[in-house]
Amino acid sequence: MKYKKIWGCLLGFLVGGMSMAQAPVAGSQVPAASSIRFPKGFLLGTSTAAYQVEGAYQADGKGESNWDFMANKIGVTQFTIGKKETGNVADNMYDRATYLKDIALMKALGVNSYRFSIAWSRIMPQGTGAVNAKGLAHYDQLIADLRAAGIEPVVTLYHFDLPQALIEKGGWANPASADWYAAYAEVIFKHFSPKVKKFITFNEPYIEFFVQHYLMNLEQSKAPANVRYAAGMTGAHHMLLASARAVATYHRLKLPGQVGITLNLSPVLPFTPGNAAETAVVPLQDELLNGLFLDGVLRGSYPRRALDSLQKYNPTFRPTAAELALLKANRPDFLGVNYYAPAFVKVDPTAPLGVNWLGLNPEPAPTSNNGPSRPDQLYALLMRLKADYQNVPVLITENGAAYGEPDEAVVNGTINDARRCQYLLGHLAAVQRALAAGSKTLGYLHWSYADNFEWIFGYSIKFGLVGVDRTSPALTRIPKQSYYLYQSILKQQPK
Ligand code: BGC
Repeated sequence: MKYKKIWGCLLGFLVGGMSMAQAPVAGSQVPAASSIRFPKGFLLGTSTAAYQVEGAYQADGKGESNWDFMANKIGVTQFTIGKKETGNVADNMYDRATYLKDIALMKALGVNSYRFSIAWSRIMPQGTGAVNAKGLAHYDQLIADLRAAGIEPVVTLYHFDLPQALIEKGGWANPASADWYAAYAEVIFKHFSPKVKKFITFNEPYIEFFVQHYLMNLEQSKAPANVRYAAGMTGAHHMLLASARAVATYHRLKLPGQVGITLNLSPVLPFTPGNAAETAVVPLQDELLNGLFLDGVLRGSYPRRALDSLQKYNPTFRPTAAELALLKANRPDFLGVNYYAPAFVKVDPTAPLGVNWLGLNPEPAPTSNNGPSRPDQLYALLMRLKADYQNVPVLITENGAAYGEPDEAVVNGTINDARRCQYLLGHLAAVQRALAAGSKTLGYLHWSYADNFEWIFGYSIKFGLVGVDRTSPALTRIPKQSYYLYQSILKQQPK
């Protein structure tokens, strides 16, 4: 019952805004596909993550991860979608015969890059100590197969899946987590360089700590919401320290590539344009959602207002001068940006720290699962990174949409995902516009290559350019209209 309430609450947060009143959709003009052009060498690709696509959850000596545990032993999806779904099989992309077909589809699509993540639990099944040679060999082969197809691997070291053995030692709340991760990262960098030239230390610390952990931390669920929310900062800080340690190692080893970190970033807007109370909480929500991570990673400091609000409920969180110096000294080479939609904020005394954005969506239903299509806000975000963060090089590591039916219906063997097509076009055009205005964006990787295990939503929510027929034993892939649209755009890029 307790679980049900927590997951019901998250579901409410995430979809709560979908039935909001009709309002005009801003920034939604769609350009012609033929007008989309990027500079030579610009990365154009797709993105996935290990737990969401690999399956083979016990193969070749893999250890248990937190998501293996939560999906199989707690049954997290059954509380949100009423079905017990897991990543045990997912898209079966651990299997070489299967992923070779996927690589062939990506090659036909025309991408020059592909972001995937390594499962820590395959490399170090217990999180620390012994390294599993079969885990390394799997990714060696995948990287070789991608490169043979002319596709550059972009490798995330950690995308929400922590070895369960480390959860049992306190997970990210344990200050030793930065040591565990630093050792893991060193193994990865030494082993996969120089075949991999772009590494990403972490995916979306904000989502992990202030959305997932906040709602999933069952031990602390009796604590008041503010305390439970603010507790996330301890783990988030350890994660940023771990990232900085990895950046330091990468630079010390003088490896021939670049290392970055991926943040989820969303410009914050008042839910009701012009509403004074909502406008007044925009700066706090912006600091909580964006500023903490941008400043932490790129300036080695945390913004005062957010820090004060968090420390009020998490008084033991006191970053030391040495820790902040570590962050400052180890700025990543590029910033990975996951952008889906802006965050619309409301004053809400029942929400942590009195502000709420999760699931709030003022635009006409139905919009994508992660919010409305607002390419204008991707442009605004890229301009902000240029102006406020010394034009840091940016790699868009995720951007995508999941509209649900009828877009995902298979009709005569094809999937006409018209709204994803519009979303894709609009956001590519926004990137093109930002480049013209001086942004140092290095590439755009669409989320996702194929429909996959969408965390607590299981397989019910689909972000892929390629559909997966889950009724067929081979998990047959069905390229959608958006795949063909992206293909036509990729074809016209300078080689
Ligand atoms: C995550 C992905 C997820 C996507 C779509 C991002 O928060 O990095 O793993 O599937 O959003 O919701």
